[in-house]
Amino acid sequence: MQTFLKILTWTGCAIGVAILASIWWVLPLDGAGGSDSVRFLGRFHPVLLHMPIGLVLLLGLFELRGKRDPGSDTDKLVRFVLLVTVLSTLLAVVSGSLLAFGEGADEELVQAHQRNGILLGMVVVLMVGLRTIATPWAYRGGLMVAVGLLFLTSHQGGSLTHGRDYLTKYAPDSMRWVFGLEVEEPVKVARAEDLLVFDHLVQPIIEQNCVSCHNPDKLKGELNLETFDGHLAGGELGPAVVPSDLDASELYFRITLPQDDEEFMPPDEKTPLSDAEVNLIAWWIERGASPDLTVAELGPQPGEVEAYVASVFAGMLSPEELTRIQTEREELYAALGYIRAEHGVLILPTEMDSDTFTIETNAIRKTFDDGVLSLLEPYAESFVAADLSGTQLTDQAMGSLAKFINLRTLNLSQTPLAGATLGQLSRLPELESLNLYGSEIAAAALEQLSELKQLKQLFLFQTALDDETMVSQLRKALPDCDIRVAAAVLPLAEPAEKTDDYGSS
Ligand code: HEC
Repeated sequence: MQTFLKILTWTGCAIGVAILASIWWVLPLDGAGGSDSVRFLGRFHPVLLHMPIGLVLLLGLFELRGKRDPGSDTDKLVRFVLLVTVLSTLLAVVSGSLLAFGEGADEELVQAHQRNGILLGMVVVLMVGLRTIATPWAYRGGLMVAVGLLFLTSHQGGSLTHGRDYLTKYAPDSMRWVFGLEVEEPVKVARAEDLLVFDHLVQPIIEQNCVSCHNPDKLKGELNLETFDGHLAGGELGPAVVPSDLDASELYFRITLPQDDEEFMPPDEKTPLSDAEVNLIAWWIERGASPDLTVAELGPQPGEVEAYVASVFAGMLSPEELTRIQTEREELYAALGYIRAEHGVLILPTEMDSDTFTIETNAIRKTFDDGVLSLLEPYAESFVAADLSGTQLTDQAMGSLAKFINLRTLNLSQTPLAGATLGQLSRLPELESLNLYGSEIAAAALEQLSELKQLKQLFLFQTALDDETMVSQLRKALPDCDIRVAAAVLPLAEPAEKTDDYGSS
């Protein structure tokens, strides 16, 4: 009788395993799709799958209790739970396969998820047989494999429904290495205008609403919206985004359809994008859909977009940071305003509320010397252009000027500079244009100037270097630089009354 029961049990196991294996042939994941009734049944998968998860873990807990006691109430209970586990696992595997088959899934991750689900089903079925073997370790071994497969399969299932990084997206930085993830740099910009339109504004909307279905694992419509290139590449119907062409952009078309349209995105009664989000995406596409321009660089924004950008920016900063940025800017403006009032240096922000400035000294040529320049040193990095023509700067000032590392244009024309230290300006990586017209630089400055490889433009007329042989030597040293000599004399700009943007401060 005992032997007969065992044979019966193992026969049942073999049939179960065979049924599971046949799923690969009956419901192949070839992307073809299935009928509505197949899809209807498949959609029970998310409901059914939690049963085996709980039950397999419960079986594990039973084993932790220790020795098996054949014939006891607990033993009967375990056997009952095992039977329910087998049935519920079969249901989950079959419904999942119907779902994937019905929806026409053929992605690699779905295939792997199904494969592991079927293997899990097989192991659970075999556990019934293994339990008839006298040593409990055969059964426990099977159980351990089942638990391993269970974790793998449910993690894959989770990645399928929520996206691959769902679990770890909000992991604190201190834990990210555990998952082999990069620590995400917090967005650090001082003004909303400095936000990157795609990275900081557009893509977060797409990630929130679209990427769960449009990623490399789950390419609905063959469309991957995880990357910028994916937007351009598009899907079955062509590019999702066509720069500067809203009408041709399938993505925009899909998010602006009537909500009850079958093609509306996101589908299935998911929350639609807000008007502000749609407007932002429209603005981005119309202005050329650049992958890396900032809000300021992308050009004028419609009012509602501006409000949206401002709210996103505010949301990125803690109130303390907001106050800190505000305070720092106020302090900078106050300090520069003071220097302007005391010494007459005209310091202008490059745009409203900007953190970068230009310096002009037209009105104070006679008094602007190395000493006044050194007063500006603490704020050196804030300046992008300096017109210091006709001032009293000497070679000593180059050490100070070398700290103005964001300078792009520098005008030192008509200064008493001898040029023996000009080489120090090679420390200004952004410097493109240097004007030395009419300055007192000596022939020895040639060697110093040869070091300024970053220059694109150099004005040398009416200097000791304004001579073809010397200039041709310099042209060899600076092949990328446009060196101007012997041009028409530049008229010296008259000291002009300038208004400024400080308001009353
Ligand atoms: C629940 C899954 C799901 C979500 C979420 C989703 N989509 Fe889709 N999307 C699909 C499916 C399925 C298709 C293919 C059928 C079709 O073309 O309507 C598709 C197709 C598309 C297409 C056409 C691709 C092509 O070339 O065929 C675009 C564009 C698109 N989606 C954009 C979006 C955008 C934008 C969002 C977010 C606002 C989004 N989708 C969210 C499932 C989804």
